[in-house]
Formats: sequence, C-alpha cells, structure tokens
Amino acid sequence: KRPAGAPDKSLARPVTKVGIVGAGLMASQLALLFVRRLEVPVVLTDLDAERVDKGVGWVHAEIDKLAGKGRLSPDARNKLTALVTGSTDKAVFADADLVIEAVFEEMKVKQQVFADLEAVVSPECVLATNTSSLSITDMASGLRHPERVVGFHFFNPVAVLPLVEVVRAGATDDATLATALAVGKTLKKSCVLVKDAPAFVVNRVLTRFIGEITRAADEGTPLDVADNALAPLGLPMSPFVLLQLVGPAVALHVAETLHDAYPERFPVSENLRRLVAAGKPGIWSWNEQGKPYLDESTAAL
Ligand code: 3HC
Repeated sequence: KRPAGAPDKSLARPVTKVGIVGAGLMASQLALLFVRRLEVPVVLTDLDAERVDKGVGWVHAEIDKLAGKGRLSPDARNKLTALVTGSTDKAVFADADLVIEAVFEEMKVKQQVFADLEAVVSPECVLATNTSSLSITDMASGLRHPERVVGFHFFNPVAVLPLVEVVRAGATDDATLATALAVGKTLKKSCVLVKDAPAFVVNRVLTRFIGEITRAADEGTPLDVADNALAPLGLPMSPFVLLQLVGPAVALHVAETLHDAYPERFPVSENLRRLVAAGKPGIWSWNEQGKPYLDESTAAL
C-alpha cells in the first residue's frame, strides 16, 4: 500500500549502488539490510580504517551467522559478503545512487557530511539521513541540490522492526521521495510519510513514555518498579532495556531536541543526563543468560 501523499511511483530512480556514511551501530545494521534486500554493492565509510573495518567486519559476521542458520545459501553468502566493502574515502560514492548518513547526531557534523558528499556524488544521487530528531530542512539548507535530500528513519533493531519514517523536507522533490519509497518497499519495510518536525512522530511518542519513566526514577521510584510500569500496555520491551538498545546518548539527544522545541511537554531526566555523562551503556547489564539485571554501579545514580 502506498503511503498517503506519496508521489507518482514512476518517478523513482533505480538504485544500483548504496553508500553509507558511518560504520557504527545503526550504519552497520543498515548495510546488512540494504545488501540483503537490494543485492547491490554497499560501501561504508567512516573517519578511520579501524571503525570502517569494525563495521564491515560486523556485517560480514552477520552474513555468516545467517548462512550458519541456513537462511542464506553458500553462494548467496559469498555474493553478499563481496558486495559489502568499506573505505575512508568518500570518493567511493561517485557512482552511488543513494547515500544514507548515520553519523553522530550533531547538525553541523551532518551538514558537513552532506556538503562533502555533494562534492563527489552525481546530481541525481539521493542523500538520505537516518537522523532520529534533527530538522532535515536545516540539514539540507546549505546544499546546491537540497531537493535530493530526504529523511529515512529506521528503528532498532533494523532487521526486525518493520516501520520506516520517510521525511519530506522543505525542498525534497517528488523523484527523491519516490526513490526512497521504492527502496523502502524493496527493503520490505512499511514506509510512512511524516512531516519534518522535531523527532518526527514515533520518537515523540516513545520519548514521552521513556521520559515519564526516567523522571519517575529521578523522583525516587525504584528502577525495577519504574521499569515494569509499562508492562500493562503490552510493549515488547521494558523502557530501560529499550534505552540500552537505542543507546542512552541517542535517547538523550532526542529528548533534548524535543525539550528545546516543546520545553513543557518534554522535561529531560537528570538520571539520563548523568548516565550519559558517565559514559554508561545503560542502566542495565546483561547476565550470562542474556537477561537484563540492575547494574549496581548505576543503580546509585
Ligand atoms: N538485532 C537483530 N535481530 C534481533 C535483535 C537484535 N538486536 N533482537 C531480536 N532480534 C530478532 C531475533 O533474532 C528474532 O528473529 P527470528 O524470529 O527471525 O529468529 C526476532 O528478532 C524476535 O526475537 P526474540 O523472539 O528473541 O525476541 P522478541 O520477540 O522479544 O523481540 C524485539 C525482540 C524485536 C527487539 C522486541 O523486543 C521489540 O520490538 N522491542 C522494541 C524495540 C523498539 O521499540 N525499537 C524502537 C527503538 S526507537 C529507535 O530505534 C529510533 C531511534 O531514532 C532512537
């Protein structure tokens, strides 16, 4: 089903090579998804060779795991492995039809990434961003061709969650939007078209939930009680486990963006701020059975 407000799908351009800027958690998951579903060359870049090797290595290992489970034939495994490569040089994007950035959530960094990309990609190449909450119109504002910029917002874990928010920014043209929607369909995702508003739609709702729970913990509700408070709503994951999955720094960034836009509706948890300042990966740790437990070192925060 086409999302409401979608442009004519015949405007979509073919995508025969995908570039991914960043080789971190989200970028690597995107690389795996794109190579599996599009079966085209996917190239990851990052600031240094170590990060690139780590990202590409993760994708190759996941392809091996899928082959080990019998979900990929040996031929498919070899083909997909060869299709995923990495580089520290953005010049590798010269013949890409779609480049998606998943770098640090900082407007200036993302604007610079797009400006650098414009210097190497073709004028038709779609520039997509996986930002969680930043204005895509602002991100595209300094470019020669802001009409080829689009939001393509995936959710963690990327392989499993079906939804993608596709964001039309101020200048996005129909061909760009049609291309993003066609790619989303090939990725077997359900795309929804959303407005370029702070944190779009899903993260706004999620941040309200997580915000209330973390603030309850700030006010003295025991962590395990706060963490179980949403259980009656039947969500698939408790809030603190979800915080760890998303990463506290990303969650804090979304919360702060929303706080700036709507201070009354989005107060920011002091515990979340402290957790991120302390460089903690999450309030929870994982035991040997893969179950979450309360980490003593953060419980006292
Ligand atoms: N990565 C990849 N695959 C994963 C995974 C992970 N981290 N965790 C689970 N899976 C896969 C499993 O392998 C399994 O696949 P299979 O059926 O093909 O074997 C499938 O997911 C189901 O896993 P399980 O049966 O082990 O576990 P659950 O049924 O409990 O599902 C879950 C796990 C899908 C992670 C579920 O708990 C869930 O949906 N949690 C909520 C996640 C969520 O809300 N994400 C949104 C975060 S916000 C965001 O990302 C936006 C950003 O901008 C901040």
